[in-house]
Amino acid sequence: MAIQRYRSCYRSRKITSSKRCTLWLSFILFVLVLLLIISYFQTSIYQSFQELDDSIIYKKPWYLLHKQKVLVPVSINRLYDYRVVCDGQSEILNQTELVNRLSTVCKINLNGSLNINLNPPNDFQLRSSLTSKYINLWRASNSCSIFENETLAIIISYRDREKNLKMLLYNLIPFLERQRIRNYKIFIIEQQASGSFNKGRLYNVAFNHLMRTSKPTCVIFHDVDLIPENGQNLYSCLSLTHHPLHMSANIHFDINGSYTTIYSFLVGGVLAMRPETFIRLNGYSNRYFNWGGEDDDMGLRFLSKDICVQRPTTGYYYAAFHSIQTRNPNRFKLLFDATLRQDSDGLNNIDQLASVKHQYEYPLVTWITVEWIEQDYSSVVPKKQT
Ligand code: BGC
Repeated sequence: MAIQRYRSCYRSRKITSSKRCTLWLSFILFVLVLLLIISYFQTSIYQSFQELDDSIIYKKPWYLLHKQKVLVPVSINRLYDYRVVCDGQSEILNQTELVNRLSTVCKINLNGSLNINLNPPNDFQLRSSLTSKYINLWRASNSCSIFENETLAIIISYRDREKNLKMLLYNLIPFLERQRIRNYKIFIIEQQASGSFNKGRLYNVAFNHLMRTSKPTCVIFHDVDLIPENGQNLYSCLSLTHHPLHMSANIHFDINGSYTTIYSFLVGGVLAMRPETFIRLNGYSNRYFNWGGEDDDMGLRFLSKDICVQRPTTGYYYAAFHSIQTRNPNRFKLLFDATLRQDSDGLNNIDQLASVKHQYEYPLVTWITVEWIEQDYSSVVPKKQT
């Protein structure tokens, strides 16, 4: 309306003489300046971060925003909007090609959906030498040459979840045997440090330890409560270029329940990658204690390094029951600055924070215990702001 008035003034060629036209012109300018100011403030509100759970608002100084490549979410919902999966299907087809090669080269026909067993027998004791009988029981006739040059490390972060761990291993070991993968080791990384659980630290300390000792060519970071349910979900990096593989995109919690992909940004659960990629990402963040956030932080690490993940179409898992864990109320605040910290928080500072205490060899697994180097005050849950 103001613009129309201004145009009609202009057409009537009285613009310089008419006071009214000058007034309209000033009004338009005023509105434009006002809009500019509002949009400036809106941007800074936009960059502030509201934690939905308990309404804490985090503000990020504007000068940091310029340095940060990945835009930080306004709310957790916006974080979940980010795209972390590679475009195009070509890489995923490689996984299928690998299954086909297994069938032609090694005459292995893998079934898709599997019946999992949720009740391991009583004598299935992880730390007992007697469990070697299970290896003989599950052992298939021969390994497949396709996996010969790959050394696989399956790293399971752990504390107080004996039941889940037994259930996982009772299904995982025959699962690998059916895929004729032999050149693997399962590492249980147990947090001995008391206080809050820190999965990122356990993964980092284990990774550095393994790179100094067994030097795997493929690593799979595995939650203790996720049991693979599709036999064609190959536990291998052979189909990967430099893209990690998010293997556990479809999960169900109830034995009769349907599968859900919790949100498309998720890279938690079971994640496979080549060691070079993990080093490039600087591993996981060491700063997430208790439940939640360390995997979303990893998602942001992928984005900032321009690494996308692939999701095999066979990634189906059962999530075993366990008691509810303490959530980390600090996680959104940490996520807010995740990519700024990426190059200084991870593999390259884990040696100052945690160390391997002992390593025990059992028939089914290598058990590694981990201690924190000193009391770290970042694990202390901050008081709620009022
Ligand atoms: C947490 C993640 C978790 C995901 C799925 C998110 O809110 O930050 O750590 O994996 O929920 O449960």
